[in-house]
Amino acid sequence: MATVTMTRHQRAVRSSVVLKAVMAVSGLIMIGFLLAHMAGNLHVFGGAEEFNEYASELRRIGEGLVPYGLVLWVLRIVLLVSVVGHIVSAIVLTRRSHRAIGKGKRYHSKGARRGVQRSYASFTMRWGGVTIALFVLFHLAHLTWHWINPGGGHTPYERVVGGFENLWLVALYTVALIFVCLHIRHGVWSALTTLGANTSFRARRNLNIIAVAVAAVLLVGFLLPPYSILLGLVN
Ligand code: HEM
Repeated sequence: MATVTMTRHQRAVRSSVVLKAVMAVSGLIMIGFLLAHMAGNLHVFGGAEEFNEYASELRRIGEGLVPYGLVLWVLRIVLLVSVVGHIVSAIVLTRRSHRAIGKGKRYHSKGARRGVQRSYASFTMRWGGVTIALFVLFHLAHLTWHWINPGGGHTPYERVVGGFENLWLVALYTVALIFVCLHIRHGVWSALTTLGANTSFRARRNLNIIAVAVAAVLLVGFLLPPYSILLGLVN
């Protein structure tokens, strides 16, 4: 049987393709979580009882079949593995790119006006990613770990409504969500391209439409509760 030995370069190329696929799949899993999370947050418009019931129902998924909270923990583990896989792949690919073409340089494309592939969203992927990670830690400290309590309150509803009555918190979430949605706008395009969907001019146009639509739905959907609370429409 013939053995195929790969050169160091071939091994690096193959593992970079695997890392890009890990980034794409983990990114799409996180977007799925965000769409569900955004839709869940809209229960705030149903009032305190509905929102608190929704928060408690999340822990009771699969009741009677599996122990309390198990499904939520499985989902959390899938999410955590996706976050870690996404970040580690991004760091390894960034280092390889710096080694291959030099720090601060960008990939080139004949399709772009000045030869360099550029869009604001694509330029902010790395630092945008770091900003999002910091925001998520702040968000968890506020609403999941309860280490900070900007607006007071004990129940999930009181914490959300109390928090977003503060202009500074709404401003912070607005900036964070703009970063999240810019990241997603380029990320959706990039992930679907990695997975082989970018095959023609028409496909590229559709990918752009899908990417902008997903980012816009998330931006509007996530910002609706904070602004409605700030304006006194939910209290
Ligand atoms: C205005 C926007 C948002 C609101 C009102 C909101 C609200 C909440 C609430 C109430 C919880 C606690 C759920 C519970 O434990 O019962 C939570 C958890 C969480 N949120 Fe958000 N969220 C928002 C945006 C985001 C964004 C943009 C991200 C990610 C980029 C995010 C990621 C998470 C994560 C990872 C958890 C922990 C889930 C868990 O382990 O149970 N959230 N959020």
